[in-house]
Amino acid sequence: MTDAAEVDAKAIFLTEYPKGAPQAEHFSMRDVDRPTPGEGELLLRTVWMSVDPYMRGRMRPDVKSYIPPFSLDAPLDGGAVSEVVESNSPNFAPGDYAVGFAGGWKTLHTAPAEAMTKVDPSLAPLSAYLGVLGMPGMTAWAGLTQILEPREGETLFVSGAAGAVGSLVCQLGKRRGMHVVGSAGSAEKCAWLEAEGGCDVAINYKDHAGPAAFTKALAAAAPKGVDCYFENVGGDHLEAALNVINLRGRMALCGMISVYNATEPPAGPPNLVNMIGRGVMAKGFIVSNYLHLTSEFLAEVGPPLAAGEIKFRESVYEGLDKAPEAFAGLFKGENFGKAVVRVGPDRL
Ligand SMILES: NC(=O)c1ccc[n+]([C@@H]2O[C@H](COP(=O)([O-])OP(=O)(O)OC[C@H]3O[C@@H](n4cnc5c(N)ncnc54)[C@H](OP(=O)(O)O)[C@@H]3O)[C@@H](O)[C@H]2O)c1
Repeated sequence: MTDAAEVDAKAIFLTEYPKGAPQAEHFSMRDVDRPTPGEGELLLRTVWMSVDPYMRGRMRPDVKSYIPPFSLDAPLDGGAVSEVVESNSPNFAPGDYAVGFAGGWKTLHTAPAEAMTKVDPSLAPLSAYLGVLGMPGMTAWAGLTQILEPREGETLFVSGAAGAVGSLVCQLGKRRGMHVVGSAGSAEKCAWLEAEGGCDVAINYKDHAGPAAFTKALAAAAPKGVDCYFENVGGDHLEAALNVINLRGRMALCGMISVYNATEPPAGPPNLVNMIGRGVMAKGFIVSNYLHLTSEFLAEVGPPLAAGEIKFRESVYEGLDKAPEAFAGLFKGENFGKAVVRVGPDRL
């Protein structure tokens, strides 16, 4: 069990809103006051923290969103798996591990007990609760099952296929008997997607730059057209998907990472009109609207994951000071699978 006095209280602050790609100079690691838990609260030591593309949206104070922007000169926040150090709740004891949407970007934090979910380290590595068994996994499951409503034999196209969300979408689609096409940004990622990640064909989009070339590659990989598109990237990927989408196609708009660092409003796809004649449905979604279905997600993903039938990868960054680098790396394709930061050891 951990004594809070053994942990230096530190946090990463946002010092400037990035214009374009996030850089190290937009962040600074500082000593902070040791937090004290109030009534019904826990004192937690962060073990693993998540960096996620949505955090870039919280660095744009001018854009209306479902979640408020980060404040300048204040600690950042995000998902984390933490060890309970002190508990003012009958539901948690020191030494328990818990996951929550708060606690990232700092070494120690407090949280109301009801905001944290206990996790069992014997079921899966703790970091998996930030990836395949956590928010990105739930996102993959919700977009596929609740929006795309896939049918056996259909073709599924997944962009950002080697990432935390995409890699699970591909595997769940394959398990449902679909022809799965994924796109990713390196030969190594594509080889893994075809060998283990559920793709029948994986396209390295960097070998097919521009909408015309990418459309050609996608049409070859999906000879019967695309019935379901799981959108993580936007830009040329969306334009190509709209070129090859079938009649009554469905699109789950999960993310558009290619435009998150844009300094000018990005152009929309010129072929959006295809949606009309082909009767295409597109729906944007946020994972938090589907959290009431968490037990269904865990029932579908948990057993095959435990049996080793569902694979997942992680890019691990060591130490809280590496969090800005881990975050910036998301926009350069440096992560392969879920990007996580080890803030402290599992047990001190
Ligand atoms: N709607 C929701 O509730 C929700 C929840 C979670 C995530 N998301 C979205 O889902 C998407 C994937 O998230 P994730 O957590 O799984 O991240 P991730 O895929 O693990 O990491 C981001 C990946 O995006 C790719 N990428 C970065 N810039 C790109 C560009 N300009 N063009 C093409 N690919 C680019 C990179 O892979 P390559 O090497 O392949 O380029 C990078 O590794 C994001 O758009 C995110 O915003 C949405």
